[in-house]
Amino acid sequence: MADITLIVNGMAHRIDVPPNTLLVDVLRDRLGLTGTHIGCDTSQCGACTVHLDGRPIKSCTILAVQADGGGVTTIEGLAQGATLHPMQEAFRTHHGLQCGFCTPGMIMAAVALAKSNPEIDVAGVRHGLEGNLCRCTGYQNIVAAVIDGARAMAQSPAKQAGG
Ligand code: FES
Ligand code: FES
Repeated sequence: MADITLIVNGMAHRIDVPPNTLLVDVLRDRLGLTGTHIGCDTSQCGACTVHLDGRPIKSCTILAVQADGGGVTTIEGLAQGATLHPMQEAFRTHHGLQCGFCTPGMIMAAVALAKSNPEIDVAGVRHGLEGNLCRCTGYQNIVAAVIDGARAMAQSPAKQAGG
């Protein structure tokens, strides 16, 4: 077993894990943060996207021990109480989801994308979210949501949680 510490959504957790445990399994099974989804076993879908030290990662692709000492933000860490993060609000406004399975990972990837490019356009969103798959929406509303969410984040930096 490995003794690791993760700062998840601002809270420190010391956890014993088998060395081959994936980060996504620690988040879901040990910490109960089931907003981070597992949609594939091929590292393709992006449903498991979280932020590690501010950068988006697919949490099914790294071991928990590799994140030891790091700061993780999950979808549960974005809203501030009852106030949605601007990107969450944009997805709601634009109906950027149907079944919602891809949505947590899509939003975490979108937040990171928007931080690096607040003026992002359609092509930029489509390229930037290539690693996140949605089976339902056809992507049009997701793209519109990310563009609006990026603008909203730029105008309300105080709300920009998410590492
Ligand atoms: S669960 Fe599909 S990329 Fe991680
Ligand atoms: S909303 Fe169903 S997979 Fe994206």
